Amino acid sequence: MGDELIHRFRRARRDPELAVIEGFHALKHALRFGAELVEAVAVDPDALEALARDLAPDLAGGLADRVETIDAETLAAIVPLVPRTGVVAIARRPRADVAATLADPGPAPIVLLEDPRNMGNIGACVRVAAAADAAAMLTTGEHDPWYPDAVRGAAGLHFALPVASIETLPESDRPLLAIDPEGEDLEPDRLPPRAVLAFGTERHGLSGGLLERADARIAIPMRAGVSSLNLATSVAVVLFTWRLAN
Ligand SMILES: C[S@@+](CC[C@H](N)C(=O)[O-])C[C@H]1O[C@@H](n2cnc3c(N)ncnc32)[C@H](O)[C@@H]1O
Repeated sequence: MGDELIHRFRRARRDPELAVIEGFHALKHALRFGAELVEAVAVDPDALEALARDLAPDLAGGLADRVETIDAETLAAIVPLVPRTGVVAIARRPRADVAATLADPGPAPIVLLEDPRNMGNIGACVRVAAAADAAAMLTTGEHDPWYPDAVRGAAGLHFALPVASIETLPESDRPLLAIDPEGEDLEPDRLPPRAVLAFGTERHGLSGGLLERADARIAIPMRAGVSSLNLATSVAVVLFTWRLAN
């Protein structure tokens, strides 16, 4: 059983249909936002149930019954970094309908990350996009936004909104705003409803193609001498500027 389990979890890390969820907080959010679990394992299911009673009473009662008990050695073999809470799960990734999301008439913005490289950053962007109630988070480039390190960085909030990798941003009737240090100063009135808010890659910023295509460029004002903010920090500033004004 141990070897099969190890292989299943290792395969799941690379399976585009599945998501690996590491740790109690990620599992809590995943379940709260409707994740369909394939399997879950824990070193101490009773301790997990106690955590749920303390931190997520909405999920308490029956959580221990949903996880299989494994030993600490097996847990260490199925994840690169053992979560302190000793629980790991596999869930099905919800399918994101990008065309339907772009067509959605609701006012919430979509976050577009151009070619993000750092999994911790991607996770932090998903987390803040979920908290601000953004309509979706889309990424371009070669990095899968559902990679387990990103899901961990997002505390499992990938299940709270559509998160998908796309080749390029399809045409739509949404305003496209380039969030770029060279733009006009950020003000709530400069964030129209239904905007696609595009953020650039960590080292080089937004591509020339995106900047040309954008309807406007918006900058987060900074103290003289500071070149830029961290990617996830800038996503947080812009999304909460929109949220607090709406
Ligand atoms: C680490 S920054 C990239 C830095 C890059 N050297 C540049 O000048 O754009 C990553 C992304 O965060 C956003 N960003 C960071 N600081 C910003 C600011 N002050 N105003 C607007 N966007 C900012 C932009 O979308 C940027 O492409």
